[in-house]
Amino acid sequence: MRVLILGSGGREHALAWAVSQSRLATDVVCAPGSAGIAEDARILPVAVNDPAAVLDLARSERSDLVIVGPEAPLVAGVADRLVAQGIKVFGPSAAAARLEGSKAFAKAFMQRHRVPTPGYQVFTDADEADRYVDQENKPVVVKADGLAAGKGVTVCDGPEAAKRAIQEIMRENRFGDAGERIVVEDCLVGEEASFYAISDGERFTTLPSAQDHKRLLDGDRGENTGGMGAYTPAPVVDAVLERKVIERIVRPTLQGMLSEGHPYVGVLYVGLMVVNGEPFVIEYNVRFGDPETQPILFGLEADPLIWLRDAARGRLAPETRGLRLRQPAVCVVMASDGYPRNYPTGYEIEGIDAANALEGVKVFHAGTSRTDGTWYTAGGRVLGVTARASSIADAKELAYQAAAEIRFKGAVYRSDIGHLAFARGSP
Ligand code: AMP
Ligand code: GLY
Repeated sequence: MRVLILGSGGREHALAWAVSQSRLATDVVCAPGSAGIAEDARILPVAVNDPAAVLDLARSERSDLVIVGPEAPLVAGVADRLVAQGIKVFGPSAAAARLEGSKAFAKAFMQRHRVPTPGYQVFTDADEADRYVDQENKPVVVKADGLAAGKGVTVCDGPEAAKRAIQEIMRENRFGDAGERIVVEDCLVGEEASFYAISDGERFTTLPSAQDHKRLLDGDRGENTGGMGAYTPAPVVDAVLERKVIERIVRPTLQGMLSEGHPYVGVLYVGLMVVNGEPFVIEYNVRFGDPETQPILFGLEADPLIWLRDAARGRLAPETRGLRLRQPAVCVVMASDGYPRNYPTGYEIEGIDAANALEGVKVFHAGTSRTDGTWYTAGGRVLGVTARASSIADAKELAYQAAAEIRFKGAVYRSDIGHLAFARGSP
């Protein structure tokens, strides 16, 4: 099977690595890819948000399967264009990708299908939104409707903070068109977890749960980032909660999309807030999580390509047990000092080979470049140092041992990835 992967980050490196390990894959290409991804796949510089360019590429590469990493190409209709030409795609149509592409769409959809989610209001007028948050006078979450590179959400402790967010999004147009509409949502207090289902449009199977660490600093303090590390499985998602998530959220979501005429093909990522054992959806994503994909794919027991292929073909064998982990896994993100705001790049990185040489370790590249055999920093999130072992504690220790092998100027990383697992007394 000839596989084309779209994207260039740590998630796509994990996908390219996993696919390259599969005995089903005869050729793996990643566009645009990165210098790090080039270790595991051929890379080609193609603009992946352009459906026509991706179609040309898939044709010239004679791709049997296209796996879409990020959300932007999906929202732009890349999957529709390929599917219309008979090319198999793992990733939803633009209509189905509205679950992530429009938060107002997602909220109304959840209401229609009785999927548990916090209460909310939608606004297209900033003054009305201001009046609403004044009147509510309680913590709320202000969300730009459209895609905002993961930065469109502000958790506000009260009306003053909410009005600042409304100002930025609606009057100062910080996210452009994505902020013409906003969702103001009730703020829930609980524990977050990520849950994934792979769907062929009708049937689905589940992936191991994971927990991301969105805040920059230890103890979940500091700014929100794209994710500073992740681990799998997440003990908060025990068997009872998993049943609730499947029956109250995953099944009605996928059936709802099917009944509305937009069968969902690809991975459905459900961002959960668990309040007193009850799951609520705080976001849908229409793609794999980054960095959760790094530990999930590294820890998985079975070859994930089988499932991605079968989902894209519309012939998924429903795996009632879901895909299992061979071992728990932990990913520690090493970032550039200054991330998620401004940071310098171009610093030499040492020690990647030494880290990779440790048994049970794989270093995924998120933002690096390579010149004359030397690695340099080229992004905010630079590396995802990922380790698997017989327990989360051992995987964590191994990931930090590997991270200690790696040096670059201004390297920052959290020292407590996985702490919520231990807070629950996980082995
Ligand atoms: P997102 O960019 O959608 O991933 O949201 C960023 C973060 O905002 C989430 O990871 C949560 O920590 C927080 N968040 C989003 N919605 C809510 C909510 N309704 N209540 C509390 N926190 C929320
Ligand atoms: N790790 C969060 C996300 O991928 O959206």
